[in-house]
Amino acid sequence: MARTTSPKTTSGSPRRAERPALVVAGAGAAGTGVALALHRSGWPVDALACRSVERAQERVALLDTGRALSLEQLCAEQPADGAARLLLIAVPDHAIAELASHLSRRPWAPDSVALHLSGSVEVAALQPLRDAGLAVGGCHPLKSFVDPQRAAETMADTVFALEGDAAAAALAEQLAHDLHARPFTLRPGRRAAWHAAATHASNHLVALLDQALDLAQTAGLSRDQARAALLPLLDGTLHNLRAHPPAEALTGPVLRGDVDVVARHLTTLAAGPADSAAAYRALARRALALARTRGTLTPSQLTRLETLLSEDTP
Ligand SMILES: NC(=O)c1ccc[n+]([C@@H]2O[C@H](COP(=O)([O-])OP(=O)(O)OC[C@H]3O[C@@H](n4cnc5c(N)ncnc54)[C@H](OP(=O)(O)O)[C@@H]3O)[C@@H](O)[C@H]2O)c1
Repeated sequence: MARTTSPKTTSGSPRRAERPALVVAGAGAAGTGVALALHRSGWPVDALACRSVERAQERVALLDTGRALSLEQLCAEQPADGAARLLLIAVPDHAIAELASHLSRRPWAPDSVALHLSGSVEVAALQPLRDAGLAVGGCHPLKSFVDPQRAAETMADTVFALEGDAAAAALAEQLAHDLHARPFTLRPGRRAAWHAAATHASNHLVALLDQALDLAQTAGLSRDQARAALLPLLDGTLHNLRAHPPAEALTGPVLRGDVDVVARHLTTLAAGPADSAAAYRALARRALALARTRGTLTPSQLTRLETLLSEDTP
């Protein structure tokens, strides 16, 4: 690879003139979505591997390129072409370290790089691959992958949190650049907080909406009617959050000091699942903290809301 004449990345390492062929270990939602997006932006694809070859074949059919392998076959391969690979490890977080260990026992060409897609697993989980001569790193796309096709089409502007050895971080940055994504350097040891933020904002929003759908059903709507009613509300809230920080985007009974409205909500919630009532109270306490910074509440409203929303109030 023509490293000496390649432009530099922001991490100071040279960009590769050619893209190494992609090997995806774990072609599930995220692995396939990223592979599809990279393929569309001109990266060569060598192989996609799943636990079963049949599953890998389905994923290869989506890309219309590359070999379908089982993870076992991938771990046992003896490639003869001597060309560097980008190994993307995209299995569930709990399986990354063990798979990295298995993958380290087969040969890898010089200049090969291994990146995992996890937001939470430390790069140290790839140590066996580093010991085998690969540069290793983490490349976490801050995106909710459900449908790989849709994910590949909407990759632009996705934040990619990067961390790792210089050559791995440089290749990850190049990958993000090619996808028109936004690379972000994650400092070592910050993964738990980073991933908790992602999980709380995205996965827990899904759980919160599910609780809101229950409440709308109690109000007499069908689940489909409730989704149709609540999703535009959510869109509007996200729009407000794009334009304003949380304290300024807040609306609702807590901000207005409507203590009796909140009390009636809690009575209704008490008749439903305990997790919804607990989540409502916890989030309303944060809403109260935001409202406090706006200075809209009287001391009496503040005290009554604090008491109503306290964890100790039955
Ligand atoms: N989904 C997201 O929104 C998202 C976003 C950012 C990052 N990530 C990261 O991407 C990685 C993969 O997540 P995902 O959501 O794409 O998972 P997924 O859809 O469940 O896909 C996981 C892949 O790994 C294989 N697999 C499952 N269990 C395994 C095990 N115990 N050992 C070895 N292979 C196993 C599956 O094989 P089969 O296909 O044969 O079942 C599948 O190919 C994770 O590190 C995750 O943190 C995910």
